[in-house]
Amino acid sequence: MQKVFIGFFVFIYSISNVCAQHKTNWLGAGKIVDPYQYTQVKHEFYNNAAVSCAHPLASLIGAQIMKQGGNAFDAGIAVQLALAVVYPAAGNIGGGGFLIARKPNKEIIAIDYREVAPGNANKDMYLDKDGNAQLELSQSGRMASGVPGTIAGIFSTLPSAKLNFKLLIQPAIDLAKFGYVITEREANSLNSNKNAFIKNNSHTPAFVKSISWKAGDTLMQPELAETLILIRDNGAKGFYEGETAKLIVAEMKQGNGIISLEDLKNYKAKIRVPLSFDYGDYHIYGFPPPSSGGIILLQMMKMVEKTANIKKGFQSPEATQIMIEAERRAYADRAEHLGDPDFWKVPIKTLSSDAYITNRISDFTPGKASKSVDIKGGVIKESEETTHISIYDKDGTMVSITTTLNGGYGSKTVVGGAGFLMNNEMDDFSVKPGVANMFGAVGGEANAIVPGKRMLSSMCPVIVTKNGKPAIVVGTPGGTTIPTSVFQSLMNVIEFGMNTDDAVNQPKFHHQHLPDEVYFEPKFPESLRNALIPMGYKLTSRASIGKTEMILIQNNKIEVAADRRGDDSVAGF
Ligand code: DON
Repeated sequence: MQKVFIGFFVFIYSISNVCAQHKTNWLGAGKIVDPYQYTQVKHEFYNNAAVSCAHPLASLIGAQIMKQGGNAFDAGIAVQLALAVVYPAAGNIGGGGFLIARKPNKEIIAIDYREVAPGNANKDMYLDKDGNAQLELSQSGRMASGVPGTIAGIFSTLPSAKLNFKLLIQPAIDLAKFGYVITEREANSLNSNKNAFIKNNSHTPAFVKSISWKAGDTLMQPELAETLILIRDNGAKGFYEGETAKLIVAEMKQGNGIISLEDLKNYKAKIRVPLSFDYGDYHIYGFPPPSSGGIILLQMMKMVEKTANIKKGFQSPEATQIMIEAERRAYADRAEHLGDPDFWKVPIKTLSSDAYITNRISDFTPGKASKSVDIKGGVIKESEETTHISIYDKDGTMVSITTTLNGGYGSKTVVGGAGFLMNNEMDDFSVKPGVANMFGAVGGEANAIVPGKRMLSSMCPVIVTKNGKPAIVVGTPGGTTIPTSVFQSLMNVIEFGMNTDDAVNQPKFHHQHLPDEVYFEPKFPESLRNALIPMGYKLTSRASIGKTEMILIQNNKIEVAADRRGDDSVAGF
């Protein structure tokens, strides 16, 4: 019995309401997965291809798409669309994200489909007449939404895919139309958001029912299925124009929302130049601004690389301390210097230069905590819900996608008649200098609201090569904890020699400059806490940090792990 739990964890759901007639109607995905009976697989080895993401049904769909001749891009599209149905807290068509990928010909691509501020947005839109920030407006309801980017992102990825789009979207349509059984975690999550759904909607969304949800119930989303059909038949215009666009704007007018038909029609995904750097034999590719993920990761890894402290090993006080101090300094720079590069001159060259980074950590004192009040953003002379998908295919394509509505279920407003949740991403702007957003992140002018501007993100999809060959695909949700989770998961493999299951699931810690505290997960060892406190660190416990999906390619095997903090699951062949 024990063996079953070593590296290969399977959780079998009890199925209470299998609907035979739905199964008969089950189209594309019916040949692929059984939405009424599925299992979670946490850690596996495959020979050809692998997926890790937040839901077993979506992972299985991605693996099957690749079995049927699709590549990792095909799988990425099908998985994102499936997650928009089976993982409504974060999977989305009403949000945005970032994709970074490496093709077999070594070409690296980075697609930015982050939401943008609507045309009628302005810097002070979340301030009351006395200048106080009204965070309830940036965090929930119609005014909290940026113009969604996910569908534009998916169509920007399509030229790299092989299969017909209609095949890729059909599993999602079927899951929405015929339903799927929910887990206990999902039931609890829907139940605890019931009041917020009622408050933020003028009609009753599919997520609300009179009695409580329980594990094994079937969730059907017929309006979402209709929207997906419009996208299947009309492409991106099925979302950004016509019926869906009209429904989004009508929903905005039910409250104080400001997204217009013009905003939707004008939305464009952007191709970005990835950030990349060496760490030992590894070459790491991260996402550049408007995400802070890549630059924070680069700074943290470079600050600890080759130090005597890091060589002391996993969970040693020395290695942990230098990682905390690297986190503190990188996050100070985030608050001061980072924003949408199309609107703000981000000093990316300096922030990523060896000289700057060496100088930034030069005041590190072993055994003594720095103080965030003393660590400002560096001086530059030059000018809990998101979801991650890691995929690897048999030709060596690596695809890493992080996508989000921002908070769990985003703005909690479902577009009436269209069945999908809108994001609350406007909260990722700095609504007022120095006022913390829902993740405690502060910012200033670099991340102020401007119409058409992308709000700063922490999302950090990453791909890694080793000696020029595919090595790691990784990423996670977690708001501002995203770069630290990716940092620690990567260090766990590269520096501390762990397998993917341990790398992802070992307890994590997080420092983001302000507040000046180290957050730690419950399993963070007491002895380590006792070593850090006398150095001057304030330690604060927190439920969980990250929900990381990692693929490691080594010795001709694909090793893949899904985070045990959620219903996440891997699939492959
Ligand atoms: O882009 C960002 O940084 C945030 N909107 C991510 C939100 C998130 O990860 C929530 N998940 N737990």
